[in-house]
Amino acid sequence: MNLTGNTILITGGGSGIGRALAEQLHQRGNQVIIAGRRSALLDTVTAANPGMNSLVLDTADPASIANAVARLTQDFPALNVLVNNAGIMRPENLRKPDTADAEAIVATNLLGPIRLTAALMPHLLKQPAAAILNVSSGLAFVPLAYTPTYCATKAAIHSYTQSLRYQLKDTAIQVIEIVPPWVATELMGPAPTDPRAMPLDSFISETMQLLATGAEEICVERVLPLRRAPASGSEAAFFKTFNDALSQRH
Ligand SMILES: NC(=O)c1ccc[n+]([C@@H]2O[C@H](COP(=O)([O-])OP(=O)(O)OC[C@H]3O[C@@H](n4cnc5c(N)ncnc54)[C@H](OP(=O)(O)O)[C@@H]3O)[C@@H](O)[C@H]2O)c1
Repeated sequence: MNLTGNTILITGGGSGIGRALAEQLHQRGNQVIIAGRRSALLDTVTAANPGMNSLVLDTADPASIANAVARLTQDFPALNVLVNNAGIMRPENLRKPDTADAEAIVATNLLGPIRLTAALMPHLLKQPAAAILNVSSGLAFVPLAYTPTYCATKAAIHSYTQSLRYQLKDTAIQVIEIVPPWVATELMGPAPTDPRAMPLDSFISETMQLLATGAEEICVERVLPLRRAPASGSEAAFFKTFNDALSQRH
């Protein structure tokens, strides 16, 4: 992907990984539009980055997606890059007969990117060069049992991204997956101080370097053990060790 001269929509661009990506891409000469539910947060980020734009969007709500896409394609006809980054991560106790969190997670993390991609597809297909970047997770490859539906949506996003790339192989739309490791953001509350969480600035700088290489799957060094576990031949042992080690956090 060319890292300059694009018009880029980043969902969840008001905080964490989305904000950091938005700021990097803004500094590199792209028109960046950040989207999320909290308008005050979006305003803080655009005020800190003159020239950046924002849009209130709830990716779990099909009507909100339809409104946003109508506005975006009118106000930013050169829009050519979609970054499906918005996500939520919640713990779930599967012994309880309650699926409210699971449904919210699926609506945001899986249906959100699917619906937004579909709604923007006619527009993106008309662009001379375009890209769709989906943010999955290392937990797509080895689930953290404490957050089961979250991990299931990320595995689904990985699978969906592979199919999307294949279906679009003869078009001008490049399909990229960003596979973050555990990164110190506020995804599950206050940013963790655990040293196993990768500092956000290191994660973003390595990610930008990898994006510049044209890679289709962006895996920083820290995520490689998770990414490679399914092919390692010792996936079950890895899963147990990984979950036993991290269960001490919860
Ligand atoms: N941090 C990690 O360790 C890690 C690891 C692997 C993958 N990831 C993925 O990275 C992405 C970004 O997460 P993060 O770590 O940067 O956490 P974050 O700071 O909490 O960012 C999540 C963003 O998504 C937005 N969002 C949530 N629900 C939304 C909705 N329904 N509509 C629109 N926007 C919504 C939030 O903004 P509003 O609340 O204002 O809507 C927020 O800005 C997520 O997909 C996450 O799964 C993170």
